[in-house]
Amino acid sequence: MTMRSGANRQWRVGRPNDDTAGGMALVRGHFERGEGDIPEVAEGKFLVRAEYFSPDAMNHAWVRGMPGKFDPLAPGSVMRGGIAGTVEESRHPDWPEGTRVTGFLDWADYSLSDGTDHMGVPLQRIPDDAAMASGLVTLGMSGVCAWLGLAHFTRPRPGDTVLISGASGAIGSVAGQLVPLFGARPVGIAGGPEKCAAALASGFDAMVDYKAPDLAGQIADACPDGVDVFFDNVGGELLDAALVNMRHGGQVLICGGTAHYGARPTPIYNHIHMAMRSLTMRGFFYFDHVDLWDEGRRRLAQWLREGRIREWLDVSDGFDAVPDAALAGFRGGVKGRKLVKIA
Ligand SMILES: NC(=O)c1ccc[n+]([C@@H]2O[C@H](COP(=O)([O-])OP(=O)(O)OC[C@H]3O[C@@H](n4cnc5c(N)ncnc54)[C@H](OP(=O)(O)O)[C@@H]3O)[C@@H](O)[C@H]2O)c1
Repeated sequence: MTMRSGANRQWRVGRPNDDTAGGMALVRGHFERGEGDIPEVAEGKFLVRAEYFSPDAMNHAWVRGMPGKFDPLAPGSVMRGGIAGTVEESRHPDWPEGTRVTGFLDWADYSLSDGTDHMGVPLQRIPDDAAMASGLVTLGMSGVCAWLGLAHFTRPRPGDTVLISGASGAIGSVAGQLVPLFGARPVGIAGGPEKCAAALASGFDAMVDYKAPDLAGQIADACPDGVDVFFDNVGGELLDAALVNMRHGGQVLICGGTAHYGARPTPIYNHIHMAMRSLTMRGFFYFDHVDLWDEGRRRLAQWLREGRIREWLDVSDGFDAVPDAALAGFRGGVKGRKLVKIA
């Protein structure tokens, strides 16, 4: 057995005295830097050394709790989140040393696993020919959510218009590149001219700026034949504006609801269009579809290899960059997939 010396750097759940955000939002005081021992590796377990953390909604869920799924972590607990790293010591036959893995483990240098992560689902192996970061982006939750939403739940047809909110975010930026693979047309929604220009350059056919006036009118201009599929990562005013632009019989897919994560959720006024336009609305939860992950990851890996998907990364450097990086998403300060390189 390898003996390791040194500390295991950790981010822990703090007790903020600046918690005015409420809802699902986090504040700086939720992040407390700590150190623990490097865990001993018992039979049937292995030790993963993290190289990247991926700040996303799951961090908020663990700190605030996820209704119907789990309670908040107690203050002082080690934070949990998406990581990509390498098995450094193993007493598990299926996870040899050197295996590169991704999943939801501790936000620490080292985590112990028995092959499952904190969501109780299997850790995923990162293919040898993929970059470590891809395990958290195209081949991780973001890419697989984009693939599930399109290939499994909405299945756009050639010629369809697919409108995607959060187009400059982790899931939206992958989804925008997948839509043309179905022969359909991707139109995105993002905040501000700079993000809209970047999204256009990454493959969106047209963009709508939710920070500019007349959102519904902008969508109508960008989607003159109406919206066949609305892939919604945001909700609120964006969902309202999309509903009045849906084609008869169109589909609304609820992937996320970032607009609702603050203390005051945004109301929806145009729900009557669901009836008037005979729309279908459905949601999905990534962790309910583990049986489909392998297929999605296989296809995404192939498209990545062929250069049909390009990753749009926004990487912060260093262990201490974690709180700012994790808070940036809710402040609109991220372009593409936010990652923190900690090692
Ligand atoms: N269904 C599932 O199982 C599942 C799994 C993972 C994530 N999710 C959810 O899916 C959503 C997208 O996840 P992600 O990882 O892509 O997030 P992300 O990278 O943080 O991107 C979120 C995007 O939302 C936009 N946004 C934030 N607040 C907004 C507001 N008030 N109005 C309009 N746009 C706003 C931002 O756009 P700008 O930067 O252009 O302002 C940002 O690019 C999140 O709600 C997340 O919780 C769902």
